[in-house]
Amino acid sequence: MGTAFAQALEKAAEGKELAGEDLAALLEAEEAESPLLFNLADKVRSRFVGDDIHLRGIIEFSNYCSKNCLYCGLRIDNRELDRYRMSAAEIVEGSGRAAALGCRTIVLQSGEDGFYTAGLLADIIRTVKEEFDVAVTLSVGDRTRTDYAIFRQAGADRYLLKHETSDARLFAALRPGTTLEDRLKRAAWLKELGYQVGSGNIVGLPGQGVETLTADILLMRRMGVEMAGIGPFIPSSHTPLGGASGGSLEMALKTLAVTRLVLPRTHLPATTAAATVDPLGRVKALKCGANVIMPNMTPLSCRGGYCIYPGKAGHKETPEESLATALRTIERAGRGPAGDYGHAPGPAGKVEGVFQEEIFLTCP
Ligand code: 5AD
Ligand code: SF4
Repeated sequence: MGTAFAQALEKAAEGKELAGEDLAALLEAEEAESPLLFNLADKVRSRFVGDDIHLRGIIEFSNYCSKNCLYCGLRIDNRELDRYRMSAAEIVEGSGRAAALGCRTIVLQSGEDGFYTAGLLADIIRTVKEEFDVAVTLSVGDRTRTDYAIFRQAGADRYLLKHETSDARLFAALRPGTTLEDRLKRAAWLKELGYQVGSGNIVGLPGQGVETLTADILLMRRMGVEMAGIGPFIPSSHTPLGGASGGSLEMALKTLAVTRLVLPRTHLPATTAAATVDPLGRVKALKCGANVIMPNMTPLSCRGGYCIYPGKAGHKETPEESLATALRTIERAGRGPAGDYGHAPGPAGKVEGVFQEEIFLTCP
């Protein structure tokens, strides 16, 4: 075992606060070492957020996007993509179906699509909250503070706004016309407005190194995020990065595991991107820190190409099939589905230092 890795792992196991160099040493784990990291992350996950997996049914209601991110298939300049929008009635109906299938959270996700005004989205959120017994997570990108306030007022519980990369230069290069600073300002607004906030990054972006991933995790610790989506980069055709090399699942899993050590109570999904690069990707993620799975509840009849990247796992599954796949995945990981809403157990940002003392007493 490499000395730096062994020392960092021991430090984590003793409950000491991890510094940037420790995170880097853990992320640099060699193939023979990573099972030890995954094992510790799995124990921390079990101890802090339990063994149940939260099902968040995701409805991808529009693939229109006004942004032009270099890595994403939904970018405005991709003219090869057939665009679609679901009506308010279709979104509500789809949410009801997801609720009937047992999802206690509905994630409403789209590209950045101004067609859905704040008023329209608020009506949808209000109806979904009134008609079904679910938590609502929004993932509709950059909006004004007033819009975020309106959504919250309408009943939205959570908001996903990934920071994608903590390297400000890379962020600006990959997301033209936007800055990391602006993104973080929006995440701060969401917190102020009382949302449970999700962030996350893409692992294996061109120009990203271990130091960037370390900074990503430290940033999420500072932000005290309640959720974090971490998945490998998948080169997407008809984008400027279509010919780049993709991220490795191994590095994405290491990033997930280290994030679990640093943010023990944060909800971490086994991502669709992980399942896309490896059929067992989600099972593996559930075994190294993840505790959430997001079955695709977009009705097939409404589903157009939500092709963020090619070959997206489960793209042709009906909501029922997608749920069945999720349940099989959970079973393969030796776990069971949760019955509650899966709200964040506490202010994730405030556990630092406290959790460290308790965790490892029960984690040999
Ligand atoms: N590979 C992996 N993840 C991607 N995303 C967008 N494009 C890609 C890609 N090519 C992720 C972003 C975004 C989420 C919806 O999908 O992190 O937040
Ligand atoms: Fe639009 Fe989000 Fe894709 Fe960027 S990553 S192009 S904002 S959907």
